[in-house]
Parts: sequence; structure tokens; C-alpha cells
Amino acid sequence: VRLRELVAADRGRVEEITRATGLFRPEELAIALEVFDAALGLGLTGGPDPDYVLLGAEAQGGARDGELLGWICWGPTPCTRGTYDLYWMAVDPALQRAGVGRALLGEMEHRLEGVARLIVVETSGRADYDGTRAFYERHGYRATARIPDFYAPDDDQVVYVKVTTGAAPDAFHAPEGGG
Ligand SMILES: CC(C)(COP(=O)(O)OP(=O)(O)OC[C@H]1O[C@@H](n2cnc3c(N)ncnc32)[C@H](O)[C@@H]1OP(=O)(O)O)[C@@H](O)C(=O)NCCC(=O)NCCS
Repeated sequence: VRLRELVAADRGRVEEITRATGLFRPEELAIALEVFDAALGLGLTGGPDPDYVLLGAEAQGGARDGELLGWICWGPTPCTRGTYDLYWMAVDPALQRAGVGRALLGEMEHRLEGVARLIVVETSGRADYDGTRAFYERHGYRATARIPDFYAPDDDQVVYVKVTTGAAPDAFHAPEGGG
């Protein structure tokens, strides 16, 4: 795969991939696209929001050459020092288990070297997220908290954390307009 920045023209494919995973409720899909729009400044809010970083992975060679296969979005967690959130990640289900997710996550971690102390991912404890949790565990994320029935009855939130070796930055990340 080839990693590249995402642009407005990717919106339809991002929606398609995210929906195709079959894991997200309609309201979650809407939030994912809101984040995409905010990152690129496509909404009503003006310019691109630097607190959301987007990255895509596209096929390199073969019949699907140039086609977007997956995407990731992360950013600094407001009101923390050196804590970053992995907000969204999705890989085309037809191409899962082929290393696309690993490439996206690896590049995020590379870019956060020396910048992030902690990388946090909130995900679901549902059985249909078994593969997702296995993916994070495989990459050194530890389940550090669980809130029963957080998303819905019988749908827990599981919080995964990776403590990175990067230096702790001093900058306090205040949200825009206060904090
Ligand atoms: C989670 C997700 C992004 C992983 O992407 P991917 O491209 O399939 O992952 P990779 O192929 O890079 O997997 C790397 C390693 O993670 C582990 N892993 C990934 N998917 C797994 C699964 N379903 N079951 C068990 N282990 C898994 C494996 O160790 C795998 O290496 P291997 O295939 O050599 O054994 C993808 O499955 C996805 O989009 N899932 C649905 C959406 C989602 O859950 N997003 C995250 C919401 S918080």
C-alpha cells in the first residue's frame, strides 16, 4: 500500500469503507464523516482543524491500483499533555488482514514519536469487535479501562492505551477558545 494525505474527493470512498465494515451505527458513521469534514475544513466551521490528522492507504499496483483501502484519524486529546486519541480507523473489509491497518497505525505511531506520551483508543467490547481488539493488542495497546453498557446495553466501552517511549512534551493542549 501507499500512504497519502486525504482530500475532499476521498469523502465518498471514506464513507463507503467505513459503512462496509458493518460495525458502526448510522450515528457513528455520521460522526466519522463530521471528523473527516472538520479535519479538511469542509464543514461550516471554516478552515481545516489541525487537531484532526487524516491519513489514507491506497492500493499500489494490481487491479485496484490507486484505490483507497483504508483511513485513520488521530489528534491531540484536548486538555492533556502529550496524550493523543486515535479517533477513527477503518479498512475495506475485502482487504482486511492484509497489513493495511498495520501500515496506517505504524505511520501514526511514527509521526507521534517524541510527541505523544500516551495513545488512547476507545472501542467496543462487543463480540463483533473481537478482531478490532485483537488488532490493537497485537500492536502493543493494553485494555486499561472498561465501562459496562457505555455505548448501549450490553455494549461496553474498552479503552486501550499505548505508552510510547517519546519524550513528554511540555505543551499543554488547550482547546480552541479556552481551556
Ligand atoms: C481493525 C482494522 C482497522 C484492522 O485493519 P487490518 O488491515 O485488517 O489489520 P492488519 O491486516 O494490518 O492486521 C495486523 C495484525 O492485527 C491482528 N488482527 C487484525 N485483524 C484481526 C482479526 N480480525 N482477528 C485477529 N487478529 C487480527 C493480527 O495480528 C494481524 O496480523 P496477521 O494478519 O499477520 O495475523 C480493521 O479490521 C477494520 O477496519 N475493522 C473494522 C472497523 C474498526 O473496528 N475500526 C476501529 C474502530 S475503534
